[in-house]
Amino acid sequence: MTKDAWLVVGNGAIGLLWASKLRQLEQPVTVLCRSDVPNGMLTVEDLDEEGSQRQTQYDVEFITKEQLEGKYTKVLLCTKAFDLVAAYLDVRKHTKKRGLIATLCNGLGAQHALIPHLKKQQNLWAGITSEGALKLDSDRVKKTGNGDSFFGLLNQSDTNLYGELFPYPDVQCQNIERRLIEKLAVNAVINPLTAIFSIRNGQVLEAPVKPLFDAAIEELANVMKEDSFKFKTIVGDITSEQLSMRIANVARLTAMNCSSMYEDVRHHRRTENEYISGFFHRETPSTATPLQDAFYTALNDQENLEEHKKKLLAMC
Ligand code: PAF
Repeated sequence: MTKDAWLVVGNGAIGLLWASKLRQLEQPVTVLCRSDVPNGMLTVEDLDEEGSQRQTQYDVEFITKEQLEGKYTKVLLCTKAFDLVAAYLDVRKHTKKRGLIATLCNGLGAQHALIPHLKKQQNLWAGITSEGALKLDSDRVKKTGNGDSFFGLLNQSDTNLYGELFPYPDVQCQNIERRLIEKLAVNAVINPLTAIFSIRNGQVLEAPVKPLFDAAIEELANVMKEDSFKFKTIVGDITSEQLSMRIANVARLTAMNCSSMYEDVRHHRRTENEYISGFFHRETPSTATPLQDAFYTALNDQENLEEHKKKLLAMC
């Protein structure tokens, strides 16, 4: 372990991308991998200012759980929502008592579920990102779309520690719960549509899926206005136009990207359905979010996706 290194847990697309961002700020970085530990450098493919493809290499330390030693003050958990708590518990004894634990994962629920497991004085900085990235190998990632990222304190109010420890002051935000819900809405529209219809992000804005895209946004905007919606006071009076602009913008900026859920379905991996459409399935009446319910059911019944596609297209 290098002194004062960040521990980035997960070498998926977002973990590798953020490891490179931290290295750009000259922070030492250790990346914890589940398997396939690379022994070289981290390579990031992206476009330079002229739009030409470039490759940049970063010197990071890749390790497995067995190689963990010492205690880290700064940990960034970049895992799937369903793995977040287990990933933290795996590294917990290697985290400092008064430290910063940051998360970057899709969906809602996993971040709050982590709070009771933290050490008493640890601060939980929940993060969201709409950047597009594709993992090419265990040590190679391609940036596939621009987006923004934000982190905000979820459990207590020691904001000073953030300034002290987090090298990106401009991504700090006061109301992270609002951002988490907005991001949940982005994922609840783009991810199921791309995964069910096997399309890239930009294609949600095209026929035959566009009417479903519009209807899904309308449905979310309406449910968020309901008094019974758990986070109504946090989202305020968000309109369907605002939501539509935000989601369409992410779809355009990451147009050529395959969403994480589409990638999971293609590779027969577990999806984040439980933390995305599953959130609405559990938290809102099915009469209020019939499309989210239909997405949820379709993704839990992937053998019959063709049938579900027909049913969905007939819903609007
Ligand atoms: O899950 C994803 O793929 C991403 O959150 C997003 C923003 C939809 C881009 O692909």
